[in-house]
Amino acid sequence: MQHADATIPAPLRAALENFTGGSVDAAIILGSGLGDFASRLDCQRSISTQELPGYPRSTVPGHAGKLHLCRSGNERLLLFQGRVHGYEGYTPEETILPVRIAAALGARRLLVTNAAGGLHPSFDAGDLMLIRDVLPLPVSQLLPLERLFPSEHGPRHTPLLSSSLMNTARSASDASGVALREGVYAYAAGPSYETPAEIAFYRLAGADAVGMSTVPELFAARHAGLQTLGISCITNKSVTVRQRVSHDEVTSVAARVSEDFSRLVLSILSRW
Ligand code: HPA
Repeated sequence: MQHADATIPAPLRAALENFTGGSVDAAIILGSGLGDFASRLDCQRSISTQELPGYPRSTVPGHAGKLHLCRSGNERLLLFQGRVHGYEGYTPEETILPVRIAAALGARRLLVTNAAGGLHPSFDAGDLMLIRDVLPLPVSQLLPLERLFPSEHGPRHTPLLSSSLMNTARSASDASGVALREGVYAYAAGPSYETPAEIAFYRLAGADAVGMSTVPELFAARHAGLQTLGISCITNKSVTVRQRVSHDEVTSVAARVSEDFSRLVLSILSRW
């Protein structure tokens, strides 16, 4: 994790170490409208990310910009409530900072969550989807992959997502009774929602859901050697004729699903 370590500026690193008072075991990044999960965990400390020097400020409603230090069983967990996106004007380094922080503080496992539009015809608003694979189309143009993830500092060709954590999520779904769909998450740069032609294109390309985050974080997590799991909350259908979707709709569906989402994630945490 030496490289990830080196990328955290010293004042930020000092503030984080002061906040956590030592290393953490795992981290969770909570997507649009899913921040409520923080209240379901036993969190000892919370801080607004505005108090962390150099930490980028979220400009999107539904992203609280808080960091929590929580306990789950014997594990110390770092919970990022809210994230920043490339479409807000942040640099690639800023968008992947939570992953680098998690790795620098010693995390071995990462759960990334997001709100996404459902492309698979059988998906409905309110479904939860295990991210089985990703379609990172714009990332290869938008992320300077060689600069961010030099091959001498970490793996670049191994799978982005952990198949053993996927099995854990499937068992957690069975045990908690919370249904979990599975599919491929396509990365769209945003901030506009997709045109009908893009929706048709993503669907043809094999994607089941589409969203504007997560994939850069998965590249960073792989490079830092984290075992990673991804879960999408399908907040709207994007199938054929696209009705207008608004960010309010996205956050309100995510809030409605938050009870199921929390039960599923607690079940994952108890067995990963
Ligand atoms: N498209 C992209 N991102 C999203 C969507 C969508 O339909 N819904 C929630 N996030």
